Amino acid sequence: MSFRFAFVGVVGAVVTAAVVTLPAADAKKDVPANPTFTKDVLPIFQKACQDCHRPGQMAPFSLISYEEARPWARSIKDKVVSRYMPPWHLDRTIGEYSPDPSLSDAEVETIARWVDTGAPKGDPKDAPQPRVFPADHTWQFGEEPDLIVTSPPITIPANGPDLYPEPEAATGRRRTVRNGRHQAPSKKSIRLPSARVT
Ligand code: HEC
Repeated sequence: MSFRFAFVGVVGAVVTAAVVTLPAADAKKDVPANPTFTKDVLPIFQKACQDCHRPGQMAPFSLISYEEARPWARSIKDKVVSRYMPPWHLDRTIGEYSPDPSLSDAEVETIARWVDTGAPKGDPKDAPQPRVFPADHTWQFGEEPDLIVTSPPITIPANGPDLYPEPEAATGRRRTVRNGRHQAPSKKSIRLPSARVT
C-alpha cells in the first residue's frame, strides 16, 4: 500500500516506488542526426525540465518555448551532459523508478547534438501539445495528498546562499512513499528544504 506524502521534498525523498528491470542500454542510433527543438528537444524538456523550469516555479528560467530556451543552449548542454540537470541523485544503474525524470543517454546525446548543430527551432508543426500544469501553490501531483505533515516554520533571509535546514516533523507512520512534495505556506516562501522519510 502506498500513500502520497505532502511534506517530503522530491529531491530528498527516499523513493521506494516500483523497482523493476534494468533498462536496455541506449544506443547512439536512437539519437536523431539533426535534432530540432520542436521535434526532439521539447518533448524531453516537457518530461524532465518543465516541472521546475516554467514561470512561477523554482528554476531561474523557463524551458517552455524555443525563445525562452535558446539563450541557455550552451549551459543546458553543460548541465545535462554533466548530469547536474535534471536533479536526480539515485543511482541510474540500479533498477528503474517511476516517476523517473532522469535522462537516458540517448536523450542527453540528443540535447548535446541539438546544441552542437546550432540549436535550431525546427517546424512548429512538430511540437507536442503544451503540457497543462496544476495552478501554482496547489498540489502538483493532481490530487489531494493522503497525509499532510507540517514542519516548524523556517525563516529564510531574502538574500544569501542556499540553506539546508533540517526541520523534523513526525509522520507517525512507516510506509512506502509514492509521491512527495513540499508546499510553501505562502508565495513568500520560495526555496524549500528537502526532507528524508524514515
Ligand atoms: C527539480 C527541479 C528542476 C528540474 C526538474 C530541472 N531543473 Fe534546471 N535548475 C533548477 C534550479 C533550482 C536551478 C538553479 C539552481 C542551480 O543551478 O542549482 C536550475 C539551473 C539550471 C541551469 C543552470 C542555469 C545557469 O545559471 O547557468 C540549467 C542550464 C538548467 N537548470 C537546465 C535544466 C534542464 C535542461 C532540465 C531538464 C533536462 C532541468 N534543468 C531540470 C531546477 C530544476
